[in-house]
Amino acid sequence: RFTPTPDDKFTFGLWTVGWQGADPFGTATRPALDPVETVRRLAGLGAHGVTFHDDDLIPFGSSDAEREACVKRFRQALDATGMKVPMATTNLFTHPVFKDGAFTANDRDVRRYALRKTIRNIDLAVELGASTYVAWGGREGAESGAAKDVRVALDRMKEAFDLLGEYVTEQGYDLRFAIEPKPNEPRGDILLPTIGHALAFIERLERPDLVGVNPETGHEQMAGLNFPHGIAQALWAGKLFHIDLNGQTGIKYDQDFRFGAGDLRQAFWLVDLLETAGYEGPRHFDFKPVRTDGADGVWASAAGCMRNYLILKERAAAFRADPEVQDALRASRLDDLARPTAADGLTALLADRDAYEDFDVTAAADRSMSFEVLDQLALDHLLGVR
Ligand code: GCO
Ligand code: MN
Ligand code: MN
Ligand code: MN
Repeated sequence: RFTPTPDDKFTFGLWTVGWQGADPFGTATRPALDPVETVRRLAGLGAHGVTFHDDDLIPFGSSDAEREACVKRFRQALDATGMKVPMATTNLFTHPVFKDGAFTANDRDVRRYALRKTIRNIDLAVELGASTYVAWGGREGAESGAAKDVRVALDRMKEAFDLLGEYVTEQGYDLRFAIEPKPNEPRGDILLPTIGHALAFIERLERPDLVGVNPETGHEQMAGLNFPHGIAQALWAGKLFHIDLNGQTGIKYDQDFRFGAGDLRQAFWLVDLLETAGYEGPRHFDFKPVRTDGADGVWASAAGCMRNYLILKERAAAFRADPEVQDALRASRLDDLARPTAADGLTALLADRDAYEDFDVTAAADRSMSFEVLDQLALDHLLGVR
């Protein structure tokens, strides 16, 4: 019970368990992790796969021979464990060359370099079997008003995704892009700050079908937004190509806690949504084991992410299966919400006296929605007392 298997499709970034704990106020508290060890340890815990930034796997500045050796060892570890690489991404934020961004850096030569770095890693991602390529605009943003002309920067951002789309199409790659929104950190303000901004941007691209979103729990919550609501809209738009699961306690710095820590109620509704909406992609954890802990905490938190997901999956399924909940859902008229408002058309609506002239506004206003009964049932299930 609550023991993950590869069929659960749990994946982890190399940079998550590999985070050494360096933050703006302190240096690393843990030694570096060898990607090969990460693959083995995560496989042992029941994960399905790993994901990486180019520089997580191949240290920045490696020679071609060093690069080949890194990839070879990594591939051997994948083959030996059966671990998959469903997603990869580019580090366009660590090296000082990216201090003003990558695809939207004011300097044109930096933008061209960023595209070439990305394309190089796309080739590797496809070689390793990835079908999703994440783009987090880490430093695409500004701290001050005149520093970035946002409309022009969005032109450059569009240009970048159009070129990347052209590249994968020309290569015949079976690869889709997933934009990861974040409101701030490390920049004062980041472009495409929320799921909604990203969805609107995607529709302006040359190949919108190739591009979706990779929302991260904490990033929407840093903006005070409801993460399950954002995910629901991404699903509704057919754009949930990937997801970064973690924990966050409200509007603060990007906490990147393990999944299940932070806002537990939103985590419950999120799992309920993913499991009932038919999302089939990886359940990808993008978290940072707290820097107070050594290796024990690193692997305990990785196991905890998966365990918490499976517990919430069981709790959400019990909630949906409970006959009292089903009655409560009807009492709250969720079935009525599912009925089209005017399936017989506008003319019939305009001719329907019951819709307006004879509508009993007072009686309708007097009906209780009964949401508190429903929500307490959910809480009882979440707390495991039903
Ligand atoms: C964050 C971001 C990053 C990105 C990752 C992919 O926590 O600020 O989530 O972790 O997801 O680097 O590029
Ligand atoms: Mn984050
Ligand atoms: Mn992320
Ligand atoms: Mn992260």
